[in-house]
Amino acid sequence: MERNLTTLPDYLRRRHAEIRVFDAQAALSIEEIGDGNLNTVYRVSDAERPERSIILKHAPPYIKILGPDYPLSTERLTFESRALDLYNRLASGTVPVQYDFDVDAAVIAMEDLRDAHVLRDDLIAGTADTAIAEQVGQFMGIVHSQTYVDNIGNATAQHYRQQFANVTMQAITADYVFTFPFTEHKTNFWTPGLDPDVQHLKVDTDFLRQVEHLKRTFLTVQQGVIHGDLHTGSVLVQDNTAKVIDAEFAFYGPVGFDLGLYWANYFLSYFSHQGNLRVQSALKTAVGQVWDTYTAEFTMVDAGLKSETLSNIFQDAVGFAGLEMLRRLIGAAHVKDIEGIVDLSRKLRIERTALQFGTTLVKQHQSLSDVAAILAMLS
Ligand SMILES: Nc1ncnc2c1ncn2[C@@H]1O[C@H](COP(=O)(O)OP(=O)(O)OP(=O)(O)O)[C@@H](O)[C@H]1O
Ligand SMILES: [Mg+2]
Repeated sequence: MERNLTTLPDYLRRRHAEIRVFDAQAALSIEEIGDGNLNTVYRVSDAERPERSIILKHAPPYIKILGPDYPLSTERLTFESRALDLYNRLASGTVPVQYDFDVDAAVIAMEDLRDAHVLRDDLIAGTADTAIAEQVGQFMGIVHSQTYVDNIGNATAQHYRQQFANVTMQAITADYVFTFPFTEHKTNFWTPGLDPDVQHLKVDTDFLRQVEHLKRTFLTVQQGVIHGDLHTGSVLVQDNTAKVIDAEFAFYGPVGFDLGLYWANYFLSYFSHQGNLRVQSALKTAVGQVWDTYTAEFTMVDAGLKSETLSNIFQDAVGFAGLEMLRRLIGAAHVKDIEGIVDLSRKLRIERTALQFGTTLVKQHQSLSDVAAILAMLS
């Protein structure tokens, strides 16, 4: 049965022993806090002792904002729960503690990161703390290197492949990142002034060939457990510590995808801060530090690491970063870093520059060899 504000009190009473945070008789107050598209997120607090609280994430069997006519398997929450377990095991402290997962009800009960803020909002406000970028780079490096097929052998990799066979969510990403933005699709939208740029993209055969290549990589390369949606809205910052949330897209895939998504959202932020050299410089530094901390983890797991391993990951990441930027400018889901710009001519200028940069990343991803080469294109 679906969970809502009416049925939740009963649910919490029944699940009390598994969740183990509240006293049996405690009066609980519940508020819906999530602003996401797919799921409902609630904060449940002890009315007398509000410092005792949890987050409940519930996946209805459809896309929340579209309603029951748009079914979507609740299995997405099983993958999120498994990813939370894995992250906790490999990189404890980088994700909220998971108290309970109820597969039948499709509910995760987890630690409430009460005073945390969303990283994207920090970046919008001009706070680009490079320590946070390093932590996320390290998080990705740990999880990727320790689930990487060449490091763990085929039998363990096969286990992860089965645990994270998240084909439904993988297919959604394939559509919304790699296909829809470059076809006529009802969910696409963009600033009308970008029309000529968008039309040009759709007939640029060189570009489209690279998109196809990256899409094939996304769908077929199986290297490690990836988060699958690691943009700056999936990172909460609490006491200068990065906490990764929302792993419902996790699957066993090309590890460069996480890096690429994360970088892309820093690049979008970079362009949105046009003219603010202090913030732009911090964002560029952050991009480099993500790579440094990421690769340090790989080198630690395998001292004899082949240089091609990292250069292949890098090039995939660059291509994926370009595609993520483009789909955030012309596809279904834009970012508020740019949507929030009120001066429309400034917004268009920023969007055009970001679109050109994203296009270059896609087209040149196989020839760019290091972070410095990308950052040089930003100056
Ligand atoms: N453990 C937590 N502690 C505090 N706040 C949280 C926690 N988990 C989620 N939130 C809040 O709820 C919001 C939505 O969470 P989440 O991104 O997991 O939901 P979602 O429905 O999957 O979103 P989307 O549609 O973007 O995928 C977060 O942006 C954050 O503000
Ligand atoms: Mg989500």
